[in-house]
Amino acid sequence: MADLSADLGFRTLKNPVIAASGTFGYGEEFLPFYDLDVLGAIVMKGIFREERPGNPPPRLHETPAGLLNSIGLAGPGSAALQEIIRRLHARTPVPIIVNVCGGDDDEFVEVAALFSGMDEVAMLELNISCPNVKKGGACPAQDAGHTSRLVKRVKERIRKPLIVKLSPNAADIVGVAQAAQDAGADALSLVNTFLGLAVDLEARRPVFANVYAGLSGPAVKPLALRLVREVCLKAYVPVIGIGGIASGRDALDYILVGASAVQVGTVNFYDPAGAARIVTEIEAEMERLKIRDLSEIRGKLQA
Ligand code: SIN
Repeated sequence: MADLSADLGFRTLKNPVIAASGTFGYGEEFLPFYDLDVLGAIVMKGIFREERPGNPPPRLHETPAGLLNSIGLAGPGSAALQEIIRRLHARTPVPIIVNVCGGDDDEFVEVAALFSGMDEVAMLELNISCPNVKKGGACPAQDAGHTSRLVKRVKERIRKPLIVKLSPNAADIVGVAQAAQDAGADALSLVNTFLGLAVDLEARRPVFANVYAGLSGPAVKPLALRLVREVCLKAYVPVIGIGGIASGRDALDYILVGASAVQVGTVNFYDPAGAARIVTEIEAEMERLKIRDLSEIRGKLQA
């Protein structure tokens, strides 16, 4: 039988499939569909200190093989999420990752420290890459210096492994990745969504109030796979690949270019059991290709 375990160095997941932030609610919403413990881990929707209404509607717009979102990190605030996490953890042992957000660096540090103190939380993911909060998609992950300063400050205040989520909209994602790992990130996850634009021709207006929005889904997979490969060529911490993964083969493609695990996102919207399906497809593909464990192919792209 194929061994699907995914070694992140600081922790081994039972398999490499992680439900991505913002596409899996707070886990509870998916309990009616399957046993969440079949996944490697789940990431909670991004959280700030206080409740946030997010951006005005519309927030979603379908594109060919893709989805633009401008949610604006709506959420119930940290105290409410702590309650949700306690409830969820009582129902499933699946490792829980908290996606930490902040309007400024102080808030990132404060929210990270708060969730670092929860036994029910396995790891933190620092969301420095949401394109839907500041004008023009600006975010800390566009700047290596800012990323470095923020990661250092967060690391000083937490005692859980820290994943730093990177943006494909940075001019130099490899430089930002190096800054994050040198500052103490335990792992990198990439990529968040690609900055895109949809317009309403009749109204002569952008579809979204924030003008730009984040593109995800199968349309972005080749773009994301390239960026993940480039980061993996330089990274000395584990990389979690994200972008358009909709099948077991897609997931194995990311492992082949060097990822240690993957996050699956948009697929959860149109196939609520999609993440669980991807786990079984990875196993079937590994058996078909006679791959005993993921280290046999991790980073083994011959190019
Ligand atoms: C959003 O809430 O706007 C999307 C989350 C993200 O891109 O990090």
